[in-house]
Amino acid sequence: MSTFPESKTAILTGAASPRGIGRATAHYLAERGWNIGIIDLDDAAAKAVAAEIAEQHGVQAAGAGADVSQESQVRAAFDALEAALPQVVALVNLAGVSSPVPYLEVSADEWNRVMNINLNGVHYATRRAVESMVGHGVGRVVSLSSVSAQRGGGTFSKTPYSAAKAGIIGFSRSVARELGHDGITVNVISPGPIDTDIMGGTLTDERKAGMAADGVLPRIGTPRDIAAAIAYLISEDAGFVTGQTLNVDGGLYMH
Ligand SMILES: NC(=O)c1ccc[n+]([C@@H]2O[C@H](COP(=O)([O-])OP(=O)(O)OC[C@H]3O[C@@H](n4cnc5c(N)ncnc54)[C@H](O)[C@@H]3O)[C@@H](O)[C@H]2O)c1
Repeated sequence: MSTFPESKTAILTGAASPRGIGRATAHYLAERGWNIGIIDLDDAAAKAVAAEIAEQHGVQAAGAGADVSQESQVRAAFDALEAALPQVVALVNLAGVSSPVPYLEVSADEWNRVMNINLNGVHYATRRAVESMVGHGVGRVVSLSSVSAQRGGGTFSKTPYSAAKAGIIGFSRSVARELGHDGITVNVISPGPIDTDIMGGTLTDERKAGMAADGVLPRIGTPRDIAAAIAYLISEDAGFVTGQTLNVDGGLYMH
């Protein structure tokens, strides 16, 4: 059984936006002793969040700018973070964009933009991370899908987003199967609506109530709801869980 090193790092993509799931997760994990690497579009913003994490939680943290849809940028950012931080045990793929365009209006550019960031980006970061994890004999990868993939849209984002997020589930199951013998687990979290700014800006109380009406619980989710699920799936104790999709959606999708 693969054990974790005493000092361990989680690298998060898409963790620089002020009210996003990624930044909340970085704080949540740092509070629990993880060192943190942050990859986001803007180098200065990634470094600023890393500095905030190191200062507040007394862990090591570093940031690097990369567009996750550009493989060479992802690899360079990962190289820089890996050189600056303790052993990378976990990768959390959070970088993503929304896409509210109705299907009949989707251009080739919109389709490719969403696929390149939301699906190819997960592949590029995962590929680079597991190359190192295989060498250490231990690793955890968690990627963010969406209830939109499972229920066929019905959310702010539409078809290209749903397709990319569904792709993450198949991708993760396959990588989980190939790398299980290397001590690596690969899982997915599928959130329902979460109170961030990704759905065209900060949500009004009215919009939140409308989104919650569809589920079993009387509210939409918070970044902390997702952070806690991520913390579990990348923990040492989750070592027998792989290829799974954990729905953190207030009961929107049951199967
Ligand atoms: N908020 C929700 O309701 C919800 C529901 C289901 C899934 N998700 C998923 O959770 C993840 C986090 O979303 P969020 O709600 O925190 O949104 P957010 O917009 O706050 O965060 C997305 C982050 O990704 C970064 N990013 C965007 N494009 C990038 C690129 N090309 N390269 C690198 N970084 C890039 C942004 O700068 C930002 O920091 C996304 O993958 C999203 O699809 C969110």
